[in-house]
Amino acid sequence: MRRPLVAGNWKMNGTRASVAELIEALGQQEFPESVEMVVFPSCVHVGQVVSGLADSAIAVGAQDCAAEPGFAALTGEVSASQLVDVGCGWVLVGHSERRLILGESDEMTGRKFKAALACDMTPVLCLGETLEQRQAGQTLEVVGRQLASVLAIAGIGSFEKAVVAYEPVWAIGSGLTATPQQAQEIHAAIREQLSHEDKRIADGVRILYGGSVKAENAAELFAMADIDGGLIGGASLKANEFGAICRAAGN
Ligand code: PGA
Repeated sequence: MRRPLVAGNWKMNGTRASVAELIEALGQQEFPESVEMVVFPSCVHVGQVVSGLADSAIAVGAQDCAAEPGFAALTGEVSASQLVDVGCGWVLVGHSERRLILGESDEMTGRKFKAALACDMTPVLCLGETLEQRQAGQTLEVVGRQLASVLAIAGIGSFEKAVVAYEPVWAIGSGLTATPQQAQEIHAAIREQLSHEDKRIADGVRILYGGSVKAENAAELFAMADIDGGLIGGASLKANEFGAICRAAGN
């Protein structure tokens, strides 16, 4: 049985004051015990969120880490070991905003994924196709290639402690959600690709769906066989919505 996971990607949002309000509001929510939860604040707020959520069931992650796991001359980057030192156990890698806006390659994503695991963090590997790629019928090929490059760098064994998130780029922040059937098809293909290397690991890995998930559409997505939870952007900035999505994952 895969434990449902709901992750909140706060992206480049928030001030110390608004983050304090969000922590406070999350504290008022009822969360199901069966669901694992993690939020990914901006790097500058990680310490504040780690302290603020210390008594809650919600873990804290970072939105990115350096490809070098330890100390290095790498101006502006934050390493996985530094994140662990401030109480952060999770990290997003390969989010499409980093791949497409910041030019992060498949290879760089694979190195970051490996660096996170080397520091005992849980990486959430984000995969997804653009609208043009979907319209050209290339979805499975694109997602398959993104996954294969991480497998080549980090190996199948690394998926024992990793999470995958399928996030079609056209569904992110657009209000357009993949239908449960569209998402399920890709989730099943991701699991199938992993099972070619190791069926037991493939059966255990959690695959989240991300892209305009809200309280309103969460339950039907989470009902699909290979969808094990969600990676939530916009809706995770509202405690009520995040709480409702977590409760949908628990049902
Ligand atoms: P969204 O973002 O829920 O606002 O579409 C999801 C993500 O980018 O992780």
